[in-house]
Amino acid sequence: MRLVALALLLAGCRTDDVWFAPDFDLNRMAEQPRLDPYEPGAMQPPPEGTRTFRPAPRDRRLHEGLDEAGNALTSIPVPLSRELLVRGRHRFDTFCAPCHGVRGTARTPVAERMRLRPPPSLHQPRIRQLPPGDVYRIVRHGYGLMPGYEAQLDPDDRWAVVAYLRVLQRSQDVPLAQLDAAQREALERAPPPGRSGGTP
Ligand code: HEC
Repeated sequence: MRLVALALLLAGCRTDDVWFAPDFDLNRMAEQPRLDPYEPGAMQPPPEGTRTFRPAPRDRRLHEGLDEAGNALTSIPVPLSRELLVRGRHRFDTFCAPCHGVRGTARTPVAERMRLRPPPSLHQPRIRQLPPGDVYRIVRHGYGLMPGYEAQLDPDDRWAVVAYLRVLQRSQDVPLAQLDAAQREALERAPPPGRSGGTP
């Protein structure tokens, strides 16, 4: 009886339209008509007046402090100005002085506590003689235990710091004989560095 009922039920269906073989791996989705990415017709044409964007090639000297041959630059590749030095001083006092001191002598409370490898005085003859390209790379990538300042200082800031550091080094390295009488007198009256509340 049940079989008869089932046969009658199935006879009422239009199997030619609705019947398809079960497709368990869902090939139908992959095989449907479609366009591949970048196939002609797949992308909307860009609006009129659209221009190709090509980033300007980065200036290796400015960004990496290296010349074409890959050697550290021996001069600062941006125009020197008082403005640049003022900016350099501000960045140096903010980012470098906590360890190396505003005078670069590395006599700071932070330096005292960095026992593993304390920050060096930036007036050491070897450091004084580093080419600007090397100092730039030290500021950017760090050096040994010193962290890099790539994120905090953009390339102009880094060169400003390099230029200011040159001034700072020079300021502590002038032979007495090169000073005139008034300058010597001022120097003798000045409190010795590191005492009388002088900045380190
Ligand atoms: C967190 C502390 C710290 C700060 C901030 C810091 N330095 Fe240093 N710096 C060090 C230490 C430590 C060394 C020695 C690293 C070593 O030898 O492993 C060093 C080394 C150096 C050297 C000498 C590299 C050499 O060839 O021996 C230079 C130049 C220098 N720092 C410049 C800078 C400048 C410029 C800044 C600011 C952008 C700066 N440092 C910020 C800790 C610091």
